[in-house]
Amino acid sequence: MFKRFKNLILCLLVLVTMVACSSKPEKKIIRIGHNQSQNHPTHLGLLAFEKYVENELGDKYDIQVFPSELLGSQTDMVQLTQTGAINMVVASNSILETFDDVYEIFNLPYLFASSEAYHAVMDDKSITDSIFTSTRDGGFEAVTWLDAGSRSFYTKDKPIEKPDDLKGLKIRVQQSPTNVRMMNLLGGSASPMGFGEVYTALQSGIIDGAENNEMSLTDNGHGEVCKYYSYDMHQMIPDIVLANYEWLESLGEDRKVFDEGFKVLNKVQREKWVSAVDNAKEGAKKLGVNFIYPDQKPFVEAVAPLTEEVLNRNEKLKPFYEKIQEYNKKYPAKEEAK
Ligand code: GCU
Repeated sequence: MFKRFKNLILCLLVLVTMVACSSKPEKKIIRIGHNQSQNHPTHLGLLAFEKYVENELGDKYDIQVFPSELLGSQTDMVQLTQTGAINMVVASNSILETFDDVYEIFNLPYLFASSEAYHAVMDDKSITDSIFTSTRDGGFEAVTWLDAGSRSFYTKDKPIEKPDDLKGLKIRVQQSPTNVRMMNLLGGSASPMGFGEVYTALQSGIIDGAENNEMSLTDNGHGEVCKYYSYDMHQMIPDIVLANYEWLESLGEDRKVFDEGFKVLNKVQREKWVSAVDNAKEGAKKLGVNFIYPDQKPFVEAVAPLTEEVLNRNEKLKPFYEKIQEYNKKYPAKEEAK
């Protein structure tokens, strides 16, 4: 009896070992969330990232990209990244100032003299490194940045030619104290809300307008409702790619491949961005959107106190601000293509 029992145990052990040896180790699923559509340069950049990493380490990792707020709003997704429920998220720099106030720097209006200055600053690791690692205690860090162009006002019924035209209008802004203050200085009434809520809020008349890059007119359909886009270009706010810190640290040797992948993501997204904006402009014109080129000076003057307030309150931003001025001298404003 005992012998039969022993044989049975032995057989079972052999079986278990065979199964264990024959089945491949499970792939780790890497979840990445963002709030743009599947046509957006950010999504295309992330697909290139997926391809690169899976090409190198496809036996170990399965990268899954979730577009269109499928995993929640941007703020929700940053929190999911903090706790490690998901691995990565693309978040606007705007909302990051509430996670660490060093991010306030890139939310300042008219911070960059030109898009060349903006890109050079974001590519300068002596500026971004300490900012990108500032949230490690909070559970995440930034691994690269993405282009989100420049932000301007767009409205339903009334073109914005000067700050005064914003008086009495409810304008959606991103959920950040800097943006609310900026809107108040310009004379409009700030309605902070998540990106995904803007279309319905415009359509139902809860707000009179919003502010963003040209992509939101077509890719998010805002140009179906708003017929005036005024190039005041008050901000150039980058999108920041965040990753759970513990997960990044656990990658060991594989980290090198992921780091290369982040470079691929940055490169592809930025290349695609240029034509995406041109196409969005063409598409918006077909929707009947009028593009307006107001004198920027009154806008610049109206928001100037904000930069002073922020730099006086948050002194650690001053060295960054000074460095940015050097780039502004090197790449001064030029007439942007219309
Ligand atoms: C841009 C930006 C997004 C952001 C959105 C917004 O589209 O790329 O990251 O969420 O603006 O206004 O909320």
